Order: sequence, then structure tokens, then C-alpha cells
Amino acid sequence: TITPVLLCGGSGTRLWPLSRKSYPKQFVPLVGQETLFQASARRLSGPGYAPPLVLTGADFRFIVTEQLTAAGIDPGAVLIEPMGRNTAPAVLAAALWLEHNDPDTLMLVAPSDHVVPDAEAFRAAVAEATAPARAGQIVTFGIRPDRPETGYGWLELPEALAADATAAGPLVRFVEKPDAEHAAQMLADGRYLWNAGIFLFSVRAILAAFEAHAPALLDPVRRAVDGAQADLGFLRLAPGPWAGAEDISIDYAVMEQAENLAVVPFGAGWSDLGDWNAVWREAGPDGDGNVVSEHATAIDCTGSLLRSESPRQEVVGIGLEDIIAVAMPDAVLVARRGDAQRVKEAVSALKARQ
Ligand code: GDD
Ligand code: MG
Repeated sequence: TITPVLLCGGSGTRLWPLSRKSYPKQFVPLVGQETLFQASARRLSGPGYAPPLVLTGADFRFIVTEQLTAAGIDPGAVLIEPMGRNTAPAVLAAALWLEHNDPDTLMLVAPSDHVVPDAEAFRAAVAEATAPARAGQIVTFGIRPDRPETGYGWLELPEALAADATAAGPLVRFVEKPDAEHAAQMLADGRYLWNAGIFLFSVRAILAAFEAHAPALLDPVRRAVDGAQADLGFLRLAPGPWAGAEDISIDYAVMEQAENLAVVPFGAGWSDLGDWNAVWREAGPDGDGNVVSEHATAIDCTGSLLRSESPRQEVVGIGLEDIIAVAMPDAVLVARRGDAQRVKEAVSALKARQ
């Protein structure tokens, strides 16, 4: 079987005021009816898939089980991280837990805040990755890049890929979050794909990779898993040892170092939904390039996103060009769409005032 390992941390400050520390973006319906978390869990369910193993913080544990149950998905196991330590300790904890409970399963590590419209095509890509993963490879999923993105990992392939390639192949190198100059070079080169942030590997292969490339994580994380306490159906990792694990992402800790990497190109649509600009793009702008929610009205606007989160608050834009306006009952954001990445500054500014 394949066990989905759903990573559910992070507060998503670039989608303020919708995404909050107390209610991050993966748990709100951003595009469509379901939340991104529900859609991610559904995408990785069905024949061949075990119930998910979810890793999240204590604040979100009830949201996780409620949303899975509401979506009709078996909640599986939920591991609670006493504090955020980034994705490397989280994935290692999942691997150590599975080593006890289902050592022969493959782990499909996935973020819960992406949009992948074609679930069936995605499961076909996972099926393509199964043989290399069984053979001990760490399999990544590659997205064809269309801009010199510095917020992603980049995957170097041995040769330029045909546009419709779907077969698994070896990876030369994994480059996490390059600077702008390198990103532009890699885009121009044609042998690079973006890392989707989704991985398939065996429990044994990832434990070996941690032993080889991040051995210092093993002791604290193992003690956190061995000392985990059952609590209302959740498994709470032991806080003492967990606090001693380094705060580092799996991309830096393992992927940039590992030599047994493979990639399956995925061309059927993927978006990180990292900011309001991506939400605007994914929601499918109308003929004037606008995305207008319920309780919002666009008059003579172009390229704008107008969104109200409350039936008691109408949002009206007149003559706007490339503007984002998002109204919550307790906060309103108005920004140029081109400044979407800067929305995290709003959160810092508000925090500084508290
Ligand atoms: N449980 C848990 N605990 N989940 C976490 C934690 C944590 O401490 N930290 C982050 N996550 C979750 C996030 O919620 C997200 O779903 C996923 O792990 C990835 O973390 P991000 O912080 O969003 O990573 P990123 O976007 O900077 O980079 C990763 O994703 C890119 C694609 O979106 C990398 O894998 C890049 O290489 C990749 O291109
Ligand atoms: Mg991300």
C-alpha cells in the first residue's frame, strides 16, 4: 500500500486575512467547495491507498479529524507536533511511526495546501513512481517551470525533457530555493523542473537517507516518537525531545544531499496557492480578468479579485485595475495584485503593534 503522509503545519501569512495562525489556508475553502486539506486527502484515497497519517500542531487536531470525517475519509492516525520543527523532523517522525506500524508501506509525503485539479492524473503519476520507490529511490514530482521562481526547489534532469514526458527518470541534482540569478539560468536551460514538494519513498529508504544526511535528527525524533502519548485519539509526540530536533526542511536536510533521487514529470496542473495572485489565477478569472465572490460586485474593473467572507459585508470595486480586495468581518486587505507576495508584511506589521 501507499500511506499518504499529509503535512499540515504553517500559518500561510501571505493569504492574510483569510489565512490566520488559528485557521491556516489549508483549512479554508479557497477555490471550490472543499478545503485544500480535504481535497488533498481525497486525492490520495481509494484503491491502493491506506488511510492518511496526518502531522499537525495541537491547535488543528480537531479541525483535521472533523474535515476528514465531513469529507467521508477515514481519518487514519494523527501525530501532534508539540511545536513546529519544519518538515524534516515531521517526515522522520512519520517514518519512525510507520516503521513500527506498517514498515513495508510506501510513504507519499504531500503538503495539504496545494491545488491539483486532476486527481486521477496525479494518482497515475504516483503509480508511475511506485516501481522506483520500491527499488529504494526517493521519487520527486516535477512541474514544468514558467517563471524564475525563487520560492521553490528545482530539479535538474540529465537531459531536456520532451513536453509530454511522464516516465520516471533519474535526477542529477536538487536545488532548493535558488537566488534570482540561478533561477533565471535554470529556467533558460530547459533541463529543470520545479519540485512539487511531494515525495514517494519506502520507509527504509528515507530512514537510510536521514541516517546518511541528517543523523543528528535521529535521536531526538526517535525519543519523541517512542515517548508519544495517546490523547483523545491523537498521538502527541514527546515535547522534551521534540524541542531538541533541529528546525529544518526535508528539502535542505535530505533532498539536496541524497544521491538516489528520481523524478516523475507531472504536467496535468499544479499550483502552490502561495498568495492571492495564485488564488486569482486558479479561481479562473472571468472575461474581464476578475474573480468576484458572493457578496462582491465589480463595476468597470479588470484583473481584480474581490472577495467578501461575510453576507453582512458587501464589497464593491469601481474602476479597479489589478487589485486584490478581501474583506473579513474583522479585517480588510486592499493591495495591488503585483504586491501579493508582500501580504506577509501585513501580518508582521500587525504583530509589531500588538
Ligand atoms: N506538520 C508540519 N509541521 N507541516 C509543516 C511544517 C511543520 O513544522 N512546516 C511546514 N509544513 C507543511 C506546510 O504546511 C506545507 O504544506 C508543506 O509542509 C511544505 O512547507 P512549506 O513551508 O510550504 O515549504 P515551501 O513551500 O517553502 O517549499 C516546499 O514546497 C515547494 C512547492 O510548494 C519545498 O518542498 C520546495 O522545494 C517546493 O518547490
Ligand atoms: Mg509552500
